[in-house]
Amino acid sequence: MIHADGKKFLLQGKNYGYAMCVTETGFLQHLHYGGKITEADLQYLIGIGKSTAPDPADVNKDMALNLMPGEFGFYAHGDFREPTAVFERTDGATVSRLRYENYSIKQGAPALQGLPHVRSGGETLIVTLKDDFSDIAVDLYYTVYDDSDVLVRNAVIRNTGKERVMLKKAFSFRVDLSGGNFKMLRLGGNWARERIPEIAPIAHGVTKLQSLYGCTSHMTNCFMGILKEHCTEECGECFGVQLIYSGSFALTAEWRKDAPLTLQGGIADIGFGWELCGGEAFTTPQALLTYSDEGLGGMSRSIHDFIRERIVNPASAFRRRPLLVNNWEATYFDFNNEKLFPIIDEAAKLGIDTFVLDDGWFGKRDSDWSGLGDWFVNEKKLKGGLKTVIDRCKQNGLKFGLWFEPEMVNEDSELYRAHPDWAIHKEGAELCRSRQQLVLDFTRKEVVDYVFGVVSKILKENDISYVKWDMNRNITENYSASLPAHRQGEFMHRYILGVYDLAERLTSAFPNVFFEGCAGGGARFDAGMLYYFPQIWTSDDTDGFERTKIQWGTSVCYPLSAMSCHVSVCPNHQTGRTTPFETRGNVASLGAFGYELDLSKMTDEEKELTKKQVDNYKRTEELILKGDLYRLMNPLEQNYFCEMVVSKDKTEAYVVGERILGIPCDYNQYVYLRGLDEERLYHIEELDITASGKALANAGLLLPKLRDFGSWAWHLKKVK
Ligand code: DGJ
Repeated sequence: MIHADGKKFLLQGKNYGYAMCVTETGFLQHLHYGGKITEADLQYLIGIGKSTAPDPADVNKDMALNLMPGEFGFYAHGDFREPTAVFERTDGATVSRLRYENYSIKQGAPALQGLPHVRSGGETLIVTLKDDFSDIAVDLYYTVYDDSDVLVRNAVIRNTGKERVMLKKAFSFRVDLSGGNFKMLRLGGNWARERIPEIAPIAHGVTKLQSLYGCTSHMTNCFMGILKEHCTEECGECFGVQLIYSGSFALTAEWRKDAPLTLQGGIADIGFGWELCGGEAFTTPQALLTYSDEGLGGMSRSIHDFIRERIVNPASAFRRRPLLVNNWEATYFDFNNEKLFPIIDEAAKLGIDTFVLDDGWFGKRDSDWSGLGDWFVNEKKLKGGLKTVIDRCKQNGLKFGLWFEPEMVNEDSELYRAHPDWAIHKEGAELCRSRQQLVLDFTRKEVVDYVFGVVSKILKENDISYVKWDMNRNITENYSASLPAHRQGEFMHRYILGVYDLAERLTSAFPNVFFEGCAGGGARFDAGMLYYFPQIWTSDDTDGFERTKIQWGTSVCYPLSAMSCHVSVCPNHQTGRTTPFETRGNVASLGAFGYELDLSKMTDEEKELTKKQVDNYKRTEELILKGDLYRLMNPLEQNYFCEMVVSKDKTEAYVVGERILGIPCDYNQYVYLRGLDEERLYHIEELDITASGKALANAGLLLPKLRDFGSWAWHLKKVK
């Protein structure tokens, strides 16, 4: 619900209020973001706000802007915090002072051209600010939902004059939080250790979470959690800030003892530049701001619902996921029909429905030194081409999926030999190679068109139901010969716009193909990619213990349905660790489930367990796709991992847990279930226990006595 009268504004979501006003001197002042307030409270908040608003009678009035909570930070005029945007005019001046101009309200959410965005619903407030010193106007967008705690923000920067302006920074939003003693939750990591949560107090100065990798990155996800004092997993207030964006980004939290906590974010400002000619507008990516007064768990559940219902394509958001086996860890590059057929044959016997052929099926791709870019089948490896493999799948009643890495090229490839200039490079700068490959210049339309053509050809000519879109290196030598010198700062953003363009075209042209995102594991796991691809490969690390931490962290701001999780062999290829097959299956069952091993080499016992896991997944997939997640025991803080998913109507739940190490005398441990209907009775099938939701929450359940990496999976059904 939006209340606005041109002087004061109140946005009300399910459990939050967000208030602003126009000061006497014409600035848009932020008044409140947090728990609900009423319209009648605005006058009171405006009164408090007067202490930080510029006093019209004071000759030094604009210096007060340094204290005022604001909605958009400008540069070199009174506010010394990081600006939200910087615009340089032809005379080199960057000073700006943005004041309120007008507002409008529209039904629905804005559809951003060329950028992933929130798809539906809501009501949008657009507040326009105008720069006193240039022809720049900024439209601030706020989309509010009565039934959600997610507020959608972005800004559109318009050049209303004739002279060209260079944007030097163009973040999407700013929000100032009053109060102190905030903590920050960040999702940091590395390859095979993506999105490990870390919580730390916010110190004085600017804390910046940033990726300059050209993608979201393994190292820092484009999410920032802000915890108020005493916030925990289950209670207290917190805020989530995340971008619907997949390229280089920055999120900042700036704290001074005399000012609120300023949160901002958007496209990475380092290296950024954008030419805005007269009459042009620049649309920044959307950001999701989520409020919770039910701790981090409540925040995650709001985000999960929002992403599933309003960002993922509705045609696939709740669609049954392929239950697949992927050949990557089974064969790597070393395969032929003789090696693949036994995997396919075995998959059918075990109830798996899709076989996915990973890297190595095309060009001269016998190792990672060659072939990328040559999207035609390697008939030396696959006699009879893809058709033979697909026919084998069909004979077994399986569907077929295929791996691509559309953005890449090897120097040893036909594509590179024909178009060396299509690879990103800067003459005079030595090429920075990674995995022996280069990145195609997706800022160039002809390159994107070419890739669309070759990938489409394969998809048209073959019966393919699933595509895994991989991306295995970061971007360097950010430069395109197709851009003039003064527009090279546009490169990184234009690159990701090219990726979005290809993703949009391919997913629209092949609506029946199920797309999965991937980036050397989970380096591009974000709400931007989820707009196109309903699920993403979470990490190359499928170890039965490491995955508990990765999946816990990923679930902070992404739904389980988005997380692709596979059972692989032991010793694990990344960690060398051996964990029980059952545990690997239980942990993977908390996501889009599948296998990543040579099924034909499994023992009979493993095959029997696989059949059970497949049945279990079929039984729980609705819960995984639609349920509410409760994180119960954090493996980063204790010797146990436990999470549960509860159906929206609370009639069913699924609890998965793991005891990490067999520490002596550590057995008298309980888990306290959450999210159940406290007044109802539930039967836990595996334990043959019936107890009330109240007892399961308050008295808890005694955990089983398990050895290293032992695990459990319990199914609960409401009985009364
Ligand atoms: C990285 C992915 O994360 C793996 O699953 C696999 O597809 C390889 N790339 C193939 O090169």
